[in-house]
Amino acid sequence: MLLTIGELSHRAGLSPATLRYYEEIALISSTRSAGRHRRYPRWTLRRLAVVAAGQRIGLSLAQIRQSLADLPTDRAPTRAEWSVLSASWRSHVNARIAELTTLRDELDGCVGCGCLSLDRCPLYNPGDEAATEGPGARLIRRAQMDPSS
Ligand code: FES
Repeated sequence: MLLTIGELSHRAGLSPATLRYYEEIALISSTRSAGRHRRYPRWTLRRLAVVAAGQRIGLSLAQIRQSLADLPTDRAPTRAEWSVLSASWRSHVNARIAELTTLRDELDGCVGCGCLSLDRCPLYNPGDEAATEGPGARLIRRAQMDPSS
C-alpha cells in the first residue's frame, strides 16, 4: 500500500515540507504516481520512526542517514536489523550521558559561585574563543579531556 505525502505527513506528524526535505537528503524515498505525485511505501513510517529515535538521542540527520544506509531501502527494517542499528547508537548515547554528567557537575560547582573566573571556571568563555574549536560545549569537552585544567 502506498501513501500520499499528505497521508504520510498526517501519520508521521511531520510537515510535507519536512518529508520533502528528508527525501532530498535521502532519509526516505518515494515513487511517483501517473500524475507525478509522490507515493511512499507504508514502511516509510518505520523509517521515519528510526529518524525520530536518532534525533531524540542527539544524532544529526547526517549521522542518521549514515546509519540508515545499512538498512534495506525496499522494506521495513526487521527487529534484528533495528537491534544492530540501535546497538551502534549505544556508544553515542553513553558519550552523551558522560558529557551531560560532566556538564551537570560543572554547573553544580558554578551555581551560587558567579565568579566566572578566567583561571578556574570551566564554563567561562571570554569572547567565545572556544567557538574556533568547533560547535558544541568546547570548554566542557576540554575539561573532560584534561581534568587538571
Ligand atoms: S562561576 Fe565560579 S567556577 Fe564557574
